[in-house]
Amino acid sequence: MIRKIRIGNPIETYAVTEKAECRPAEEIPYFETSQQGKKLSLMLGQKDIVYGLGEQVRGINKRGWVYVSNNSDDPNHTEGKNSLYGAHNFLLIDGAHRFGIFLDTPGKVCFDIGYTEYDRMEITFEDADYDCYVIEADEGTAAERILTEIVHEFRHLIGRSYIPPKWAFGFGQSRWGYKTAADIREVVTGYRKNRIPLDSVYMDIDYMDHFKDFTLDKEAFPDFPEFVKEMKAQHIHLVPIIDAGVKIEKGYPVYEEGIANGYFCTDEDGKPFTAAVWPGKVHFPDVLNPEVRQWFGNWYRVLLNMGIEGFWNDMNEPAIFYSERHLKEVFEQLEDYKDKNLDIWSFFELKDLVGRLDNRPEDYASFYHNYEGKKIRHDKVHNLYGYNMTRAAGEAFERLEPDKRILMFSRSSYIGMHRYGGIWTGDNQSWWSHIALSMKQMPALNMCGFLYSGSDIGGFGSDCTPDLLMRWLEFGIFTPLMRNHSALGTRSQEAYRFDSRKMADIIGLRYMLLPYIYSEFMKAALSGDMYFRPLAFDYPQDDRARHTEDQLLVGESMMIAPVCEQNAIGRNVYLPERMKLYRFRSAADFDTEVLEAGDHFVPADLNEVLIFIRPGHIVPLAAPGAENTDEVSLSAVAAISAVSATQPLTLSFVETGTAEYRWYDDDGYTRNYEMQKHIRIIREDAAGTVTVENAKA
Ligand code: GLC
Repeated sequence: MIRKIRIGNPIETYAVTEKAECRPAEEIPYFETSQQGKKLSLMLGQKDIVYGLGEQVRGINKRGWVYVSNNSDDPNHTEGKNSLYGAHNFLLIDGAHRFGIFLDTPGKVCFDIGYTEYDRMEITFEDADYDCYVIEADEGTAAERILTEIVHEFRHLIGRSYIPPKWAFGFGQSRWGYKTAADIREVVTGYRKNRIPLDSVYMDIDYMDHFKDFTLDKEAFPDFPEFVKEMKAQHIHLVPIIDAGVKIEKGYPVYEEGIANGYFCTDEDGKPFTAAVWPGKVHFPDVLNPEVRQWFGNWYRVLLNMGIEGFWNDMNEPAIFYSERHLKEVFEQLEDYKDKNLDIWSFFELKDLVGRLDNRPEDYASFYHNYEGKKIRHDKVHNLYGYNMTRAAGEAFERLEPDKRILMFSRSSYIGMHRYGGIWTGDNQSWWSHIALSMKQMPALNMCGFLYSGSDIGGFGSDCTPDLLMRWLEFGIFTPLMRNHSALGTRSQEAYRFDSRKMADIIGLRYMLLPYIYSEFMKAALSGDMYFRPLAFDYPQDDRARHTEDQLLVGESMMIAPVCEQNAIGRNVYLPERMKLYRFRSAADFDTEVLEAGDHFVPADLNEVLIFIRPGHIVPLAAPGAENTDEVSLSAVAAISAVSATQPLTLSFVETGTAEYRWYDDDGYTRNYEMQKHIRIIREDAAGTVTVENAKA
């Protein structure tokens, strides 16, 4: 059941696709409202849990901190931060009452979840103009289904999640600093020579001509369409980055067209607003305006026509290095400090003057959009910018490539964008704590519709180590977006640079799991469920499970417990029920053990992945050895129809009777999911006999 309560006169975000009945006079249930709706307050019980908020710092349970929805370009994802790149204003309260609440407003929202007082949650809005949706499970819903049901209802409200092509579930290698076709060839050779599976190489800003969107550095890529073909022949997809800022340069057609048609955001005087990002001075396309979205989206055609089938959208908070106007003020003010004896205060002032040029709230409050016929100040709709840049691309792909899935994910986002693309969690670091952070972000993102997501594996900033990459991959093999990415100037971290045999085994496991990962992803996307779930969702009566933050359920059959600590020889795992552990080193080298419900110390060598299978469950496997997703599609079928004595066909835990798994598959390429859908029923009995049957349509 969904109740919509409208407060004030909110700005339309198009986050919601389903009509919910609006009851204007109604109070927001469960909350105390004050200041005409600017503040909502709720008392929390000792063991209540607050889930949600998508991409944020800290735990799965968000209690004990203050979070602000204010999309920020911030590469330091420490516990002390309040905002990252996304604004995902959905919370799920698991207390005396269990309900979800979505606060639909593009402005700043502050969620004090037990920061000021541990037992109180307070939500504060900058403006009392928002739509509030309160979502509850229908009466009579079984206790263990309630949380799942609420998410399901919410996801129905916001529309189906973006579905990428199947190759995008393969492993991708990225790095800021692959400058030329030769650099990319070297990476591909590194992978292929070492027989480490790979499906894509990402092209960072280096590929462009002076960081101009939709251009190519002709010297570095003399015949790009030919290069795309050469890579495809090796089953490699190239995935270029697109940035939000358009370089100001006479003769550059994107700039010229934008100026001629008035497509850029403007300053107070109606002139295009000038800020700077990678190329120096830029204008920002006003993607909130549908005409501009259509224009900007059409530009992706330049690369689509060269054979490109995927993109990542970046710097779309939008990130601002400096605004032209403020930089001028700073240079003027600097004059005052010349020849001065700087004391503690004036020294700090000077430092702040130059150290705080980027992403200033004042700059965000100094430019305007033409939104639904009204001039609207950017800060009032700030959180919608990345969403609409990605929507521009998504809408263009629907027009330009109606039959084909195009890979798209974005850095900045708002709920609603989940229909057009996935997200990656931005500039994390090569820190152990960031494996754990990623694990906590994934289920929260899934709640908010972002199913195709992942973090930079190995960490973006700082130097990666071999053991960090290995452990990170042991979690990353489960994330739908599985990409190794790192920053310019950091230590190279391609998998073949370290213990390549062991890396190949771990990444190889991802490819063996692909039939299951894809099947579970598609089921979650098509039915509005979660691919990653906190244990609480399936074991709501078990207080230990409810408060477990470092283990996750992946799809219906498995639980994972990755090791996130350096030099650990294993980890403590809590089992809410009896499960079968697969300790996996390689396709030919794994052991299994049945563990009882309760606490266990589970040893895990550096190259061992722990997978726990729930009783009566099956995970279909592809045959080992695939080096790209094209090979998996073939071998998966082979693996299940041929019985091999030495390789497992499934991971399973069947002690009595027969277990069943509905294996979803499709061509992985076209958008016509219903037409392409292929469901097979896999059955396995206690003796390990596996049968496969086509399900009736
Ligand atoms: C931003 C992105 C990062 C990218 C870099 C250069 O920091 O988050 O992924 O590598 O820009 O384009």
